[in-house]
Amino acid sequence: MPAGTSAVASPWDLHRNPDLYPDPEEFRPERFLGNRPPRGAWLPFGTGTHACIGGQLAFLQVTVLVYRLIRRGQLLPATRQDEGIGHRASTEPYPSQGCRVALRPVRGRHPQGAR
Ligand code: HEM
Repeated sequence: MPAGTSAVASPWDLHRNPDLYPDPEEFRPERFLGNRPPRGAWLPFGTGTHACIGGQLAFLQVTVLVYRLIRRGQLLPATRQDEGIGHRASTEPYPSQGCRVALRPVRGRHPQGAR
C-alpha cells in the first residue's frame, strides 16, 4: 500500500470468512473445541494498539460464570434458536431477542449444592 494509506482490520469480515470458519453464520461454538483458530484469525477483543485491555478479565469472568451455571443444570435457549442479529447504535451486533437462556436444574448433578 502507498505510504499514508489507512488500513482497518475488520473482525466482522474475518470471523465470517468461510475459508477459516465453514458455514460462518451457523452458531456452532463447538467448532473451537480442540481446534484453535490460526494466529490472527480470531479477534474478539480487537487487535493492535487499541486492543481491549479487559480481554483476559472478560474471558475469566465468562469461564467462571458458565462453569458455575452448568454445574447447576442444563442451559437451554429460551428464545428462538434462529433469532436474528440486531443492530443498534453501537459497533457490535447483538442477538435480536437478547439470547435469553433458561436453566433447567439437573437433579443429582451437584449433590453438595452449587456455589
Ligand atoms: C466479552 C467482553 C469484552 C469484549 C468482547 C470486548 C471487546 C473489545 C473490543 C473489540 C475493543 C476494541 C479494540 C479495537 O479498537 O481494536 C475493546 C476495547 C476496549 N475494552 Fe473491551 N471487551 C470486553 C470486555 C472488557 C472489559 C471487562 C474491560 C475492562 C475491564 C474492557 C476494556 C476495554 C477498553 C479500555 C478498551 C479500549 C482500549 C483502547 O482504545 O486503547 N473490555 N474491547
